[in-house]
Amino acid sequence: MTSGQSEISRVAVIGTGVIGASWAALFLSRGLDVVATDPAPGAEARLHALVAGFWPALTRIGLAGGASVDRLRFEPDLAKTVAGADFIQENGPERVDIKRTLLAEIDAAANPDVIIATSSSGILISAIQDAAKHPERVLLGHPFNPPHLIPLVEVVGGSLTGQDAIDRAMAFYAAIGKKPIHIRREVPGHVANRLQAALWREAFHLLEQGVASVADIDTAIAHGPGLRWALLGPFLNLHLSGGAAGIGHTIDHLGPPIASWWQDLGNPTTFSPELRAQAIAGVAAELAAYDFPETVRQRDEALISLLALKAASEQLP
Ligand SMILES: NC(=O)c1ccc[n+]([C@@H]2O[C@H](COP(=O)([O-])OP(=O)(O)OC[C@H]3O[C@@H](n4cnc5c(N)ncnc54)[C@H](O)[C@@H]3O)[C@@H](O)[C@H]2O)c1
Repeated sequence: MTSGQSEISRVAVIGTGVIGASWAALFLSRGLDVVATDPAPGAEARLHALVAGFWPALTRIGLAGGASVDRLRFEPDLAKTVAGADFIQENGPERVDIKRTLLAEIDAAANPDVIIATSSSGILISAIQDAAKHPERVLLGHPFNPPHLIPLVEVVGGSLTGQDAIDRAMAFYAAIGKKPIHIRREVPGHVANRLQAALWREAFHLLEQGVASVADIDTAIAHGPGLRWALLGPFLNLHLSGGAAGIGHTIDHLGPPIASWWQDLGNPTTFSPELRAQAIAGVAAELAAYDFPETVRQRDEALISLLALKAASEQLP
């Protein structure tokens, strides 16, 4: 256990919707105390039910010593939720005005050196952190849904974030088994969603052009390069494509055709009503022979097995 985690035993989770509840379950599974708040009616009961639902998967992955759902406490009052917390993960609604108000309230009640990480998918830290009196400890800790299963966390500082806060957040996330990456410059969509958006752009272009069906485009990824991408990222896959000579050889050899495809890639700028209808009809056709809830259940099962296999493979970066 690194110093990053040993200093942190109690985490405050602000907002317990889709992402906050999943974060709460993850923190509990790592043997931490969690205090959570959310103003929505019925939020407390919903949170306990969601965490109970996530627990079997987390147990299968492996609980830390002392981990227990009994270490979750719901607190209706925001200030009391963050007072005494060692780390704060904010998961409120994705609106700049709400995030700014929340941040100011959290900042006023929390110990001044405690990190406040927001899960925001699309808001830049620099657009909200000056609402805090201690903006140097405010940063982005962007998870992938569901955070209790997907290891990636994108850590981004804004113009006022201190390097010490970045270092401590990176250490904490790593210590609880996440795979944090530090994004050095704020860009809309951070890194992983931009990479996904690039792929979606071409998928929709190919669909629009009638090059392949929705089902066949899905097959092209899920039964093709997607299998490798779950194990190694785009650069290491290119490195392997070069054999013993590695990525330099791949770029020399396959770079010119790849660059020529770059020139030819589609550039849709919007989801037209026709394209939307095509995607919906294509997905319906693709799923016609399947029981969708069972597909989702089997996807989740396979994901947990894959995570276990990856965790056991020490030489996969
Ligand atoms: N859903 C995703 O796939 C995803 C992935 C990564 C990051 N995120 C980010 O996580 C954050 C939460 O998204 P979500 O999908 O869980 O939304 P959600 O609507 O499921 O949850 C938001 C929760 O915030 C609560 N809330 C409202 N006002 C609040 C307040 N003043 N204090 C505390 N809680 C308050 C709501 O009651 C609700 O339960 C957003 O910033 C979003 O960008 C979402």
